[in-house]
Amino acid sequence: MIKYLQLQMQGDAYLKCVNPKCGLEYPIMSTNVQCENGHVLDVIYKNKPSPDLKETFYERRDSKGNIFNESGVWRFRDLLNFCQIDTEDNDECSKYLVSLDGAEGRQSKPYQMSKAAEFLGINKEGLWLQPEGYNPSGSFKDNGMVTAVTHAKMVGAKKIVCASTGNTSASAGMFAANEGIKCDVYIPAGQIAPGKLSQAYQFGAQIIQVEGNFDDALKQSLDDAKNYDGYTVNSVNPFRIEGQKTIPFRALEYLNWESPDWIIYPGGALGNTSSCGKALMELYQWGWIKKIPRIAVINSDGASTLSDLYNGEFEDEELRWNKGNPNTELISRYYDHLDKEKLRPKTKATAIQIGRPANIIKGLRALEFTNGVVTTVSDSEMLDGMSVVGLNGFDCEMASGASVAGIKKLMGEGIIKKDDVVVGILTGRQKDAMIPVDYHSNPQNVFANPPKK
Ligand code: F0G
Repeated sequence: MIKYLQLQMQGDAYLKCVNPKCGLEYPIMSTNVQCENGHVLDVIYKNKPSPDLKETFYERRDSKGNIFNESGVWRFRDLLNFCQIDTEDNDECSKYLVSLDGAEGRQSKPYQMSKAAEFLGINKEGLWLQPEGYNPSGSFKDNGMVTAVTHAKMVGAKKIVCASTGNTSASAGMFAANEGIKCDVYIPAGQIAPGKLSQAYQFGAQIIQVEGNFDDALKQSLDDAKNYDGYTVNSVNPFRIEGQKTIPFRALEYLNWESPDWIIYPGGALGNTSSCGKALMELYQWGWIKKIPRIAVINSDGASTLSDLYNGEFEDEELRWNKGNPNTELISRYYDHLDKEKLRPKTKATAIQIGRPANIIKGLRALEFTNGVVTTVSDSEMLDGMSVVGLNGFDCEMASGASVAGIKKLMGEGIIKKDDVVVGILTGRQKDAMIPVDYHSNPQNVFANPPKK
């Protein structure tokens, strides 16, 4: 702790409110997830990293026994250096950085998947799908959880807390167990795939069942964290966002830092969208990339808050970042409307069954910076997307199928072109065994392969 305080004196990294009119700043050891005026925070770095680091990152792929080089997150540690360490020494790194033996992000990179390309009617060389399900807890969450838990360790937290639709709880539970700290997870009762919940149990997390949906569970977990000294590791935590920046970093590195035309994510709480936006803003500002890829966020038809607001389907107003001054009253009125009409988010892809995306403000900033688009897909389209990924020998869960289905929809609308270079993020691995079993048992489904009698 004392060592950290000394490091902090160097003052390269700090927290800053995202609202340009407010802009309140906090020291890096702060555990606030919001400024005094209720706006979300960014981690800001004063130093401008040299593009020569591209070579360093490449060289670290030969890990030389350093688990922090093996890690697909910490390999890029110089671009998320809120701990302010500057060393290649494994033992020195392990005093500060949390890692599951370098496994987080290690197997993640973009792959070309020809059957998916054929299904989409897109140029096969231009389609890249990046499975994040091969992370140690089975989803992209591990990328951001190592950085959040690193910060928790920095500030001496004894307990981490999260709300979850499943994957966050598995990831938080895993790293908490490995670090010997407690973990409370708040889940919407009866709405979590057993395969995800069983991971949280297995890792010794304390499950707290909340009557209601994910949005209710998040609210309760944030209140309890505040009142009972818990450290929140949901993506409202700005340190989560730092680790998740490595998802686009890895994609870009494999494309020799030449920007694709598009990066596609399923949209839930919008932590991914926010982190991709921040990564691209920083890389552009530092002169590492010349072209800004466009982000496409794919909501489910049944949980379409961002799409409804962004596309002007509520009160005919298109919600925008608006130079840091988004119409938050419009968002509040939309939530009131959901409550009044008893409209609850509903999709079989429970990972993205979210009505109040906690990162909507940063998400809007990401969309503005990248000239992004938002659309929705149906449950059956997501299942087809998930299934065609399987035919390429890769596993992903239904919510991740939204990335594939979203590309198809946007191509159909002429927004994504056949010759565009597209990176779709496959956010998690299958943990609900019955989803593919049911899909393949129904011969009506596009890729169904029913069992023979
Ligand atoms: N895909 C998967 C597999 C997820 O688990 C989630 C979110 C998302 C996409 C949405 O990502 O929130 O960054 O927009 N799951 C959270 C959880 C909410 O609790 O596991 P986002």
